[in-house]
Amino acid sequence: PGDFSLRGKAAAKVVIIGAGVAGLTAAYELGKAGYDCTLLEARDRAGGRNLTLRGGDRLAELNGPAQDVKFGEGVYFNAGPGRIAPWMVTLDYCRELGIPIETFINNNGQALVHTNGQTIRARAARADMYGYVAELLAKATNVGALDKQIGKDDQERLLEFLRRFGDLGPKLGYEGSDRRGFIKYPALDGGTPIPAPGTLHAVLAAGTGRSITNDFGYEQSTPMLQPVGGMDAIVTKLKEAVGEDRIRTGVKVNKITNLADGVEVTWDGGSLKADYCIATLPPHLLAKIPHNLGDPVTAALETPIPVASGKIGLEYGRRWWELEDRIYGGVTETDLDITHIWYPSAGFHAERGVLVGYYNTDKNAELYGALTPEDRRRRALTQGRKIHGDKYGKDLLSSVSISWDRQEHIQGGWVRWPAIDSSFTLLQRPSGRVYFAGDWLTYLIAWQAGAMESARGAVTQLHQRVLQSP
Ligand code: PHE
Repeated sequence: PGDFSLRGKAAAKVVIIGAGVAGLTAAYELGKAGYDCTLLEARDRAGGRNLTLRGGDRLAELNGPAQDVKFGEGVYFNAGPGRIAPWMVTLDYCRELGIPIETFINNNGQALVHTNGQTIRARAARADMYGYVAELLAKATNVGALDKQIGKDDQERLLEFLRRFGDLGPKLGYEGSDRRGFIKYPALDGGTPIPAPGTLHAVLAAGTGRSITNDFGYEQSTPMLQPVGGMDAIVTKLKEAVGEDRIRTGVKVNKITNLADGVEVTWDGGSLKADYCIATLPPHLLAKIPHNLGDPVTAALETPIPVASGKIGLEYGRRWWELEDRIYGGVTETDLDITHIWYPSAGFHAERGVLVGYYNTDKNAELYGALTPEDRRRRALTQGRKIHGDKYGKDLLSSVSISWDRQEHIQGGWVRWPAIDSSFTLLQRPSGRVYFAGDWLTYLIAWQAGAMESARGAVTQLHQRVLQSP
């Protein structure tokens, strides 16, 4: 939402470079307000990193072979964004565009944590860590270590909380807990609990902290959400609303010229003049397009550093993680180079399903990206077997992997600013008649919400200007 209505002004022409989520959102909002937009997209499809792969798709890669996606009917893999936090504007667009959403399971105690060669259930890792932390704090309290900080009443209240937090015993010790789960769950008999926890040392040495705190932050806290049937529903609906005829794919812009009364955008075999331009390319690619916006703009565009990121989708003919491990959605965290395994949050008990066999960044993503698709799969399976055993290699039907730094016209998972400085703020404002937009210009990098918020910011500024122009 937001009122961008023209209020009596003549419709201005806007050329938008890049039909990713930022470009599409800008065109959508401007279109609602009556502007005449044209989107120029270098790739052969709109959507940018919002990419959902299905059977029949073909994924090309820079310096690598193309992959044919062989997934069966109804199976999909979100190769780019996969989860949306409840507070994100992305959900407002889903609602407005009539895109059904469902829960994305980000935190699942039944999923696993794999560190130092050991695999345990997330719930057990959490129970042990909370248990020992609670025990230590309770003991410190009881020997008077907190006397200077809090009074006796509050110490009692603290102990009362710690008992619950850690599931402590009568003497405020952590002796394990049925929170860790069972080998055989209670039913007619009391079941078989998972054997008592390791020592405090073992629990600390396992280093499960990162895994069990992932959902503490505002960006990753449960519940998260996803569009039913694939993230690209957002692209499909935005495209429909914008009008397919306004989107020109395969157009590789090679020059942007600010004029006194407009902007000229040129590509191999054509050019277009408009009143304004919104450039939404990744900054490191935009920096390479000749323009007359000045050296400070080029320098600013060169400041953010691309971050490598990759994923593999593994399609299985049997959802063994549900059938055997009772893992319905969620994420297994590892200290291996695969970093994460994601289990599908939908399609439970279906015949097939796709696991995300790795989702990694930086060095790990570069390592996998440099491999052939077959070697990526082989390596992902080798790592996954360490966690799930031999079944990880069985019933595998097909796979497809993406290395975002090897995607033409994208070349990165996202970017990292060495510091949020004057380069960032310079590009948040127009340079002449050229505006910039993208997740990379927000504090929501690597989120569609960033792309959308940025687009809305650019559109707001542009429209204010149109209203004020004589
Ligand atoms: N949005 C991406 C994800 O959820 C990348 C990201 C991860 C961004 C963690 C911020 C924090 O995986």
